[in-house]
Order: sequence, then structure tokens, then C-alpha cells
Amino acid sequence: GSTALSGCDDSPDTTPATAGSARGPLRFPSGFGWGAATSAYQIEGAAKEDGRGESIWDTFSHTPGRTRNGDTGDVAADHYHRYAEDLDLMRDLGLRSYRFSVSWPRIQADGSGRPNQRGLDFYRRLVDGLHERGIAPMLTLFHWDLPQALQDAGGWENRDTAERFAEYADVMFHALGDRVPVWLTINEPKTVVQNGYLWGHHAPGRQDPDAAYLVAHHLQLAHGLAVRALRARGVDARIGPALNLHPCYPADDTAEAATATRLHDGYENRLYLDSILKGAYPADVLADLGPDSRMVRAVRDGDLAVIASPVDLLAVQYYTPLYVTGQGGTVTRWPTSEAEWQQIYPEGMYDILTRVTRDYGRIPITITENGLPCPDRLDADGTVDDAGRIDFLRDHFAAAHRAIRDGVPLESYHVWSLLDNFEWAEGYEQRWGLVYVDYPTQRRVLKRSAHWYRTVIRDNGL
Ligand code: NOJ
Repeated sequence: GSTALSGCDDSPDTTPATAGSARGPLRFPSGFGWGAATSAYQIEGAAKEDGRGESIWDTFSHTPGRTRNGDTGDVAADHYHRYAEDLDLMRDLGLRSYRFSVSWPRIQADGSGRPNQRGLDFYRRLVDGLHERGIAPMLTLFHWDLPQALQDAGGWENRDTAERFAEYADVMFHALGDRVPVWLTINEPKTVVQNGYLWGHHAPGRQDPDAAYLVAHHLQLAHGLAVRALRARGVDARIGPALNLHPCYPADDTAEAATATRLHDGYENRLYLDSILKGAYPADVLADLGPDSRMVRAVRDGDLAVIASPVDLLAVQYYTPLYVTGQGGTVTRWPTSEAEWQQIYPEGMYDILTRVTRDYGRIPITITENGLPCPDRLDADGTVDDAGRIDFLRDHFAAAHRAIRDGVPLESYHVWSLLDNFEWAEGYEQRWGLVYVDYPTQRRVLKRSAHWYRTVIRDNGL
């Protein structure tokens, strides 16, 4: 097409798709990494077992009024005990890749010092179980469950937390570096910044913009230090950040909306992308924060070089576009899902992928999350009919396919999520899984979308 970033005529497995169409055969490149994703606190449960310490999400979810229905991750989907059954589910689906996270407080109860062997053993069993089933492990080091002891020492506002993170990362590289091919550092730093420190509806529940961007810098620094730790250990594996990116569009065609959209894009996307992939924070964001902001004052000589340590791949999480008004607010343009922040707009997937490749070069990309919460019910006949999720995924797969055709080096795609799980402040009411979890019995039931996804994987396309 005319928007092609670079030809991929020499990739015979990529059948050209009709622009904007989800019909007809869409073949993905051979070996495409069809996968699913989860995170530790959202599925594991076993919150007090085998020497696990407390995380900020234990504290937060146990604080009255913080989560819907007072839900906590104490039991969650009980994956810590049922991981073997869950591995068999993954095999039945035909997954090629599984993205999970390690619970830092299982490895270091207080966030530093000698690792807890029982915690390491769990992830060793999980990773070996994946290999036995021919599924590639993709490991996220930090998916928001910061050891509470580190929070008590200032959490991500404290620069030392970045050093502690690199130490913990090194423990994991030592333990699993020989059997995990892809490592992701920090899941969605922006969500920690925004939900954790700007709006306060995630742990640690703060509402302090000045602290929020200081936290952003320390998260980016932690990322870079972990990349360096992997290289220093000489581990033969790939590593990258996991960023939730939001394509930003002006809400109307005024000059004010165009200007506001550019700055919004700075805060949503370039703050994270530019620091890692260009070695500089975006000038417009720095100017907007101002020289007296805690973040700007915290950046030391050499920090950006650490943050920009070369990465092997970029993990992109896409859920929704944003439409920005001249006043800098956002408006809703498309139908939303059960998550009121999510507008359903598959074209945004195409836009963000092609934009990243255009602006940052041909770094390999993996989609580490994309999915939809649905009002899933277990019917009397034992099935879960989530037709809406199938439509959503089909349209987003088609958009990703078009991006590949137009030159984006996309190598894998992980649906969020493998299992229904603890959706943070929303508790268990929002169901995001391909697999239904009947919480009272912990029975797993493949939803219609899971059966459909199995055929997508088998056919390597739609
Ligand atoms: C992003 C987060 O990484 C994940 O933990 C969350 O459940 C999904 N988005 C859905 O909101």
C-alpha cells in the first residue's frame, strides 16, 4: 500500500490483506508467536505461602474502599497451585508463547538480599513446564507488585528502588537466564505513574503529580539498570521494555486541539519511547514539567545513557485510542467496553505499530497485551459464549496483519489474558480471559473465544 514503511515482498508467508477488511485469508509470517499473557498478582494467589513477602497490592487491596467488593489477590485464580493444569490448557490452545510475571516479593520478601529458593523453584517449574509443552516463556520482571518494605522506604520516589530492582533482576537472570529467551523489564511504567501516583486508584494510591514524574524517571532508570545487568551477566537472551501506548488524535480540527494532542502524546508515549530509544526525554514534556519539578531535578548526568541502553525488542500493549480537546482533556469517540476507559478502535493498533516503526526504526516488536473484558456467563450447557471478544480480536489481529504487511517487524501477539483474573481496582467482576474461571470451584472452562483462537493459531491466521 501507499503507506508502506518498507516493502516486505520477500516474506512469502505474508499474504497481502485488503485494507480495512477482516475478511479473506490473512496469513501471518511463519513461526508467528501467538500467545497469551498474565501477571503474578492477578492470577497466583497463595499470598502467604513459601516465604512470599507482602507487596503494595496486598496492602492496597486490603485497605477498605480501594477495590470493587473489597476483592484481593489472596486466592485469585489459584494459579500457584494449579499451574500444571494451566500449562495443559496452554498446550490445548496451541500457544507458542506465554507471557507471565514474577512476583518480586516471592523472590525477595523485603525487596533485597538473599533470594528465597522456594520462590525461585516455582518459576523454575513453570518455565520447565512451558518448555516441555513447546511454549516459549516470556518473563516480565515487574508487573506492579512492589515489595511493601521498599514502599516503606519511599518506593519508586526513592532512587534506591531502581538499584534494588536491578539486583532482583540479576537474581532472576542468574536463576533462569539459560531458559527464558525473552525478558521484559517493567510492565506499563505509565500506569504506575498515572494510576498509582496521579489519580491514585492503583497502589500505592497517591495523587501527587510532582511525585508521579519523579517515579517515571526512576522506573525508566530501573529499566535501564536491568538491561545492563543482563548484559553484564552475559546472558544469551533478549530484553526490552513493555509499554502501553495510546495513539492520540485531536478531538476536533482546531489548532488548539492539534497543539494539545502533541503534548498529550508526549506524556502518553514519547516520555517512555524517546528516553529508551532516543536517549532523551521529550523537550516539550520537560518544558511543561518545568525546571523545578522533582523529576527534572532528579535526572543526573549519565542517567539517560543508562535508560537508553540498547534493547533487543519493544513490547507494545494496545487497548484504546485517546481523543484530545483544545483544553487538553479527552473525549470518547467510539463504543466503550466494560472498562469505561477502553474505546474499541482496531485501527489504533495499526496506527500505533506503524508509528513506532516510522519514528523509532525497525526494532522487533511484540504485542504483549491486547484484549477485551466481556460480561461472560457460564451457561447451563457448560459453555461461555463471548462472541464480542472474538469480533474484537479478529479486528485487532487484522489490523496487526496490515501493519506487518506495511513493514512493521511484529513477531508475536499475546492476548490479555489467558485466564479471568484480579483486574486490580476492578476486582474479579471484569473478566478478560480466554478461559473462564469459576472462582468458587476454580474450575477452568474454555470460552468460545479460546476455541476460536486455537483455530487461528493452527491456521496461523484468519
Ligand atoms: C494492562 C495491565 O498490564 C494488566 O495488568 C491489566 O489487567 C490489563 N491492562 C487490563 O486492564
